[in-house]
Amino acid sequence: MVRVRKIEIVSCLLLQIVVAATAANVTYDHRALVIDGKRKILISGSIHYPRSTPEMWPDLIQKSKDGGLDVIETYVFWNGHEPHKNKYNFEGRYDLVKFVKLVAKAGLYVHLRIGPYACAEWNYGGFPVWLHFIPGIKFRTDNEPFKAEMQRFTAKIVDLMKQEKLYASQGGPIILSQIENEYGNVDSSYGAAGKSYMKWSASMALSLDTGVPWNMCQQGDAPDPIINTCNGFYCDQFTPNSNNKPKMWTENWSGWFLGFGDPTPYRPVEDLAFAVAIFYQRSGTFQNYYMYHGGTNFERTSGGPLISTSYDYDAPIDEYGLVRQPKWGHLRDLHKAIKLCEDALLATDPTVTSLGSNLVASEYKTSSGLCAAFLANIGTESDATVTFNGNSYHLPAWSISILPDCKNVAFNTAKINAATESTTFARQALKPNADSSEELGSQWSYIKEPIGISKADAFVKPGLLEQINTTADESDYLWYSLRMDIKGDETFLDEGSKAVLHVQSIGQVVYAFINGKLAGSGNGKQKISLDIPINLVTGKNTIDLLSVTVGLANYGAFFDLFGAGITGPVTLKSAKSGSSIDLSSQQWTYQVGLKGEDTNLGSGDSSEWVSKSPLPTMQPLVWYKTTFDAPSGSDPVAIDFTGTGKGIAWVNGQSIGRYWPTSIARNNGCTDLCNYRGSYSSNKCLKNCGKPSQTLYHVPRSWIKPSGNTLVLLEEMGGDPTKISFATKQTGSSLCLTVSQSHPAPVDSWASDSKILNRTSPVLSLKCPVSTHVITSINFASFGTPTGTCGSFSHGRCNSPRSLSIVRKACVGSRSCKVEVSTRVFGDPCRSLAKSLAVEASCS
Ligand code: GAL
Repeated sequence: MVRVRKIEIVSCLLLQIVVAATAANVTYDHRALVIDGKRKILISGSIHYPRSTPEMWPDLIQKSKDGGLDVIETYVFWNGHEPHKNKYNFEGRYDLVKFVKLVAKAGLYVHLRIGPYACAEWNYGGFPVWLHFIPGIKFRTDNEPFKAEMQRFTAKIVDLMKQEKLYASQGGPIILSQIENEYGNVDSSYGAAGKSYMKWSASMALSLDTGVPWNMCQQGDAPDPIINTCNGFYCDQFTPNSNNKPKMWTENWSGWFLGFGDPTPYRPVEDLAFAVAIFYQRSGTFQNYYMYHGGTNFERTSGGPLISTSYDYDAPIDEYGLVRQPKWGHLRDLHKAIKLCEDALLATDPTVTSLGSNLVASEYKTSSGLCAAFLANIGTESDATVTFNGNSYHLPAWSISILPDCKNVAFNTAKINAATESTTFARQALKPNADSSEELGSQWSYIKEPIGISKADAFVKPGLLEQINTTADESDYLWYSLRMDIKGDETFLDEGSKAVLHVQSIGQVVYAFINGKLAGSGNGKQKISLDIPINLVTGKNTIDLLSVTVGLANYGAFFDLFGAGITGPVTLKSAKSGSSIDLSSQQWTYQVGLKGEDTNLGSGDSSEWVSKSPLPTMQPLVWYKTTFDAPSGSDPVAIDFTGTGKGIAWVNGQSIGRYWPTSIARNNGCTDLCNYRGSYSSNKCLKNCGKPSQTLYHVPRSWIKPSGNTLVLLEEMGGDPTKISFATKQTGSSLCLTVSQSHPAPVDSWASDSKILNRTSPVLSLKCPVSTHVITSINFASFGTPTGTCGSFSHGRCNSPRSLSIVRKACVGSRSCKVEVSTRVFGDPCRSLAKSLAVEASCS
């Protein structure tokens, strides 16, 4: 213990020393942010600190740095920091100061988006729900109670950052802060009060005197000196609202978020790189990947409705913290190429010339001899060969070539030099506690959650209550319960006391129980309409409706008022006669949350766990508990919830979020190989149609002990917990890459003074990602006209017979290898054809 503390103290001191660097003066001009008098080309990436753990942060930040980032951008999450009014939380995943200091320690800058409205697919857009209950409050408009709270929290964060000397003006890493978020997208809905609120936000922020610039994103009329910035899949066409402001892009969506019930979006890296390159080509100087690491919506932090627990986002670093290849590597190469152009880019404005239809050259050339150029083919159909400064260049459709010396190509967005690395989930049985002699599967104990009202604080109200107003989002769950006496001769009854229960809800899930038995359920984003055939009995009956939220809305004008829950009508009707009775305005009994939530069953501590068999399965509302040993090794861990229905899970008392493997993605709109050419949109490239949206749920390693861990599930729908398993995510047992003769030489063959080194042929280079691994076999190699992708390569008609032996000789037994892609090395198997080298290798 003492040793650990010493290390902590030392590392704290170290952090302080690093942060106590000299103050920097951050300003801007029409080209760029200016730090200590020098314009900067900055490449930024979003990492939201509560979407990973403090234990993961150093590695995520290092991988960001290695990927060529200069800046980490994050929102500040008000509801995480102030879950109850005036009760602050800056601990654990919410240790903002630690996060910012770690970024500083890595030598990177921070863009702090204080908001405090975040959006971000985060519960209620980041607003604490208690805010909603302040009398007279109206969110995001010229409303005194709201402005008072917004100012108080914004000032609190600025003061905290100042105290810790985290602004660049104090020697810290924060070079930019954001106020509000995309308000310009919705402000017209707020009328004149919206405009005055926006202006107030700006001057309130400026009054806090951070010593560094502020930005507003998607706010075309952001008042001076606030920089208005762009968000979107492309921002090359954006111009700031003043000639004195630089062109900045605060959200370049690297993929898109996943919703329960939706297929999984992905964004091809060729298109992402194209978007970035054309932005810098067209004079942009700051660009941020949203997200660079998306992470996980632990606990009940996901926004809504129906945002999944995974916030992977197809980002360059995946949910689990592993680099996603070739995305990460191709962007790293892009960043190097852009940085090779930095001096020229910042020294002057470009000369733009057309090289043909959809073909544009931008040359940044100074009298002092600096020169960098970008050649763009923005056509979506055909490759082109262009002549620029007397030289000829091959430009694939929808691609940009970067020429740091105006002559040699360092990078083309459509020609990938980074290998694809496979990642796999290795299944591991849920290993029972080693101390126990019992068999796997009999390890589970359970507690049944009562159906209907069971808590003393239940209350009666006439009519159907809106859910968020009733629960204050203290829980996902709200019971609406009704007792009914049935005589048997009611007109809404059919023969045998049958009827149809009609329930209307605005979301997101409803379970209907009749006399303690589940009769039906449904779910939806905004509207659920259920017609459930039921059987009543003569005498007393109970109708218990359990309404469940899955993330509160986070986007749109007045999203805070969208509401949730059973809004009605709730009726009983005869299937035959059409006669019905409206129950909506009856005296309903309400219970906020579940009994097991009140007694904190998620912690696992309770004397009530029942371990005698049989284990009840496929029944709604059962709490389950088991113990397990950590999956071996140090790879990231996931739980595969296949076999269960829907609920919330806890590992050692920490909520890993909502699980819902039975939420199936719609069965259309997916493409395995999405054409990256042409404008991307969030539904252009989808996978996983017809399959569960999310079966695997991240359990951070630091939450697991070597043995004796507790896993608790609240299964609301009905499932079999003995079916769940662990998986560890492994990276890089196979590597694949295709490099053509027209690929640029690796960007590493450029010296930092933007001079190309001697070797200019394309090179296929491979490296096992795990440092202790070597390339053990070459499963495929062909120099010629190979086709296919990783796992399905095949020879074309043209193939150098020496391909395999040459690549084997160069690679097997080493961790990394480089093979020149040329006829000098492989001979020429087909003279007139353009050739490439495709390789698939295994590492272990
Ligand atoms: C933007 C918003 C972000 C995030 C993104 C979608 O409109 O500013 O916070 O919600 O959309 O991922």
